[in-house]
Amino acid sequence: MMKAFTLTFLLLAGMALCAIAQNISSFNPGELWLDTDGKHINAHGGGILLHQGKYYWFGEHKVEGRQGNSAMVGVSCYSSADLLNWKNEGIALKVADENSGSEIEKGSIIERPKVIYNKRTKKFVMWFHLELKGKGYDAARTAVAVSDKVTGPYTYLKSFRPNAGEWPQNFKEEWKHKTVQEKDMKAWSQEWKDEVAKGLFIRRDFEKGQMSRDMTVFVDDDGKAYHIHSSEENLTLHLSELSPDYLSFTGKWITIEPAGHNEAPAIFKHKGKYYLITSGCTGWDPNAARSFVAESIWGPWKPLGNPAKGEGAELTFDSQSTYIIPAPGKKDTFIFMADRWRPKNPIDGRYVWLPITFEDDKPVFRWEKSWKLKDSF
Ligand code: GAL
Repeated sequence: MMKAFTLTFLLLAGMALCAIAQNISSFNPGELWLDTDGKHINAHGGGILLHQGKYYWFGEHKVEGRQGNSAMVGVSCYSSADLLNWKNEGIALKVADENSGSEIEKGSIIERPKVIYNKRTKKFVMWFHLELKGKGYDAARTAVAVSDKVTGPYTYLKSFRPNAGEWPQNFKEEWKHKTVQEKDMKAWSQEWKDEVAKGLFIRRDFEKGQMSRDMTVFVDDDGKAYHIHSSEENLTLHLSELSPDYLSFTGKWITIEPAGHNEAPAIFKHKGKYYLITSGCTGWDPNAARSFVAESIWGPWKPLGNPAKGEGAELTFDSQSTYIIPAPGKKDTFIFMADRWRPKNPIDGRYVWLPITFEDDKPVFRWEKSWKLKDSF
């Protein structure tokens, strides 16, 4: 009798837990976010793809302890119909065996994976920031993998430093021939910043390709895709056009906010204009977000200031941007998606998702402890 009672109790408790895990009805920024198996979602520095009515969340799979910031497993994928309840679809891109010599071997650094769908080739294309094993953040490469199926497995193709031998579109002819070098100037002086804007690092890296660290990708309404990344020692953002199959760069690119020190780019389009939200460069520590607007993706990009408002805005509510999601069924409304990093135990990193609204033609977001899609816009 007692045994039957205990069993029934355990069964009911289990069912209750499942019910909680499977029925999330509001966004709770910074809290544990359980997937449909009841485990905290493991998809950091992520991005979202909407495909055939379903959302797919790709992100960095992290493990416990300091080692967890390097790629020990690969890129996670989750799926959801409502952006709240996420099913673990497993590892979309697996790291290669340790010491296999692969560029994506276990212990390399794989960050900020983003997946886009190519309607022409019917392939899913994953771009990510790659750092080669044992080299810290020196490699500064972008990397690409491809799959026929949204959830993977993705096949790793290549990594490289973009735009080797190509000048940006917004670059003066005379800057190409300047001879001034880094060693001639005091770093962070106004003179140095002016020279950065005139291509100090672009010329340095011209032959071997430009550095590519924090990144995102964006598909415009006309099907053209763009890769946006922190370059030039994280001083300047570069925006580059991708080839029609999305697997390489065409060589057409621009600089955004030279010497502005922007990381963590996230982009969206609203009423025909392009908006970027970025962070400053303080590693895993949060700082104040920035925003920019442009009439054309090719710029000029105009700064709009900190899009976060209210208490905690100066540290972006303890988070760093990673992606901006068009809100389901609501034209011109968006969700700011950010990471609250936990570098000492990366698997415990949290997610901060907040609704973006427009005030005076500028994107803004405020802290909300708990919110629902239907009453926040
Ligand atoms: C952050 C960056 C992260 C990661 C980290 C490493 O600034 O946004 O993606 O690279 O630095 O310190």
